[in-house]
Amino acid sequence: MSKKSSFKHKLFEDLQSLPKDIQSLLSAAKDQLKMAYAPYSNFMVGAAALLDDGQVFTGCNQENASYPLCICAERVALYNIGTSLKDFKIKALAITAHNPTKALTEPVMPCGACRQVIQEFEARQGSAITMYLTSDCAEVMRIKGISKILPHSFSMDHLM
Ligand code: THU
Repeated sequence: MSKKSSFKHKLFEDLQSLPKDIQSLLSAAKDQLKMAYAPYSNFMVGAAALLDDGQVFTGCNQENASYPLCICAERVALYNIGTSLKDFKIKALAITAHNPTKALTEPVMPCGACRQVIQEFEARQGSAITMYLTSDCAEVMRIKGISKILPHSFSMDHLM
């Protein structure tokens, strides 16, 4: 028996259907693909976070010959915020990817580790982060808050 899983999200068919600030954010994420260091997987990921004061922090994946040391684009972008600002409010996080050996036909989803980190940043700022996911495809998927794709999660609530 096969099971279908679903989560609340909205699909935009192209960039033009999105607000201008989100179009720019997705373009900043795409720009980061150029800086991705992915000689092992060849899978390039770019991320860009928009703060409520208009600042944009970006990141891309950084790989290492010692594979477990690789770090994802989302975490580079978020930790970039964490190392620069004590207080922040991330309004939106754009993520994109490019695979030169396989055409990506759907928006890329953040990996489990990055979902956990996004959740921590939501907890730190006290509000949900809206994610805009895309890839080489034209479509953009909007997900309002990490709980939609990281339900029943481990969090700081278990520690305190
Ligand atoms: N990667 C990311 O940057 N973000 C994700 O959410 C998924 C995976 C990177 C890690 C690695 O450099 C490459 O993509 C292949 O897994």
